[in-house]
Amino acid sequence: MSLLKRKKTEAAGTNGSGDAEAVTKPTRGERMGQAKELGVHHGTQAGIDVAGWVDSRVNATGIFTAMMSRHVPKGTNWFYTLGSATMFIFAMQAITGVFLSMYYTPSATQAYASITHMTNEVFMGEFVRGMHKWGASLMIILIFLHMARTFFFGAYKYPRELNWVIGVVLLILTTVMGLTGYLLPFDQRSFWATIVANNITASGPVVGPYLADFLRAGPDFSATTLSRFYALHMMVVPGLIAGLIGAHLFFVVKLGTTAPPWVRAGRPKGARPEEAVTAGVAREDLDEVPVNGAVAAAVAEAEPPVAEADAAEADAVEAREAEETEAAVATEDPAEEAAAEEAAQAPAEQAPVEETPVEEVSTEVPSEESAADETAPEEPPADPADAPDEPEASGEGEVNS
Ligand code: HEM
Repeated sequence: MSLLKRKKTEAAGTNGSGDAEAVTKPTRGERMGQAKELGVHHGTQAGIDVAGWVDSRVNATGIFTAMMSRHVPKGTNWFYTLGSATMFIFAMQAITGVFLSMYYTPSATQAYASITHMTNEVFMGEFVRGMHKWGASLMIILIFLHMARTFFFGAYKYPRELNWVIGVVLLILTTVMGLTGYLLPFDQRSFWATIVANNITASGPVVGPYLADFLRAGPDFSATTLSRFYALHMMVVPGLIAGLIGAHLFFVVKLGTTAPPWVRAGRPKGARPEEAVTAGVAREDLDEVPVNGAVAAAVAEAEPPVAEADAAEADAVEAREAEETEAAVATEDPAEEAAAEEAAQAPAEQAPVEETPVEEVSTEVPSEESAADETAPEEPPADPADAPDEPEASGEGEVNS
């Protein structure tokens, strides 16, 4: 009986089944089983201890949790996997590329022979080469699909413009990988295709000819061109891509991902009725920043004031509504109602209703001054002598009909 079974049986026995099984002395086989399980346990434990030791020094768990355990916006779907898929293919290209480089010779005279050797004679050579070749096309397709996703979901807008720019550089570098890799087999097709591509580059404005010269490693296509393409393909461009993917992911983790447009279209959840949504930034975007240690703490700290502000605003709205109700009730008085009606029917030349005391509106005939002042009724009177009337006029007895 294994240790696990034994434990289960013991537990069942003490679990109120009544007839507790008598605990017998383990047999030799059982003891051997126990020893084996303990050995496995200790082996695993040792591994965990080492991982814990490293983790306590580099905080890998914290970094990993911050990167992987993030809030994502509502409506996140399969299109959001395209970036990761591109990254996966890049990793595959790097791995298969390392194996290919073990057999490839970057020399104008030996490159083609090394490729045929690797394809026909090396164990799984054709398979690894096929993976690398198909992976290159797949990466280009995926990167375009990923770019289309971010474009159509509006993920290029504030505050993610920089990530879009990094993405554009990644796209250019990925195509450069395609161009430089295409020459490496050094067969007829790759040779002539690269000459054509180089000539196209040379026809580019301003920097075109210089760029073409740089790629050719001189004015003519030569053996050095192959070395140059090899160095770019093996080290420079992959290094840049890896670094930029790091920066790209940093921004994805820092800013979170963009909610799909159809989720952002409605009024943001929790937004106050009077609140304007900042141009281009949906409230969800702000809410759904990744929650890692620091951000979570900041959010937790920021919450009480927001709640207080909400409560204060609710109070203010309540008070305003109460005031309006009071005013409405007050005008129910027949005398006042009549005055208000008269005020409403008063000629347009009169001073604005809000600015005029009820008594004046109901009794006085509009003065010539105010009648003449049609265009700017709210401007102070031209004659300073009239000014003292103003404060009174804007005092109590306002009609808010
Ligand atoms: C080697 C190429 C690339 C890799 C490995 C990569 C990887 C990723 C990953 C893993 C994400 C997060 C998940 C997702 O939204 O898919 C992401 C997001 C993003 N990528 Fe890329 N990407 C690459 C190229 C590009 C390109 C070419 C563009 C645009 C020109 C771009 C623009 C963006 C933007 C704007 C986001 C933020 C998305 C959002 O906020 O919803 N990326 N990328």
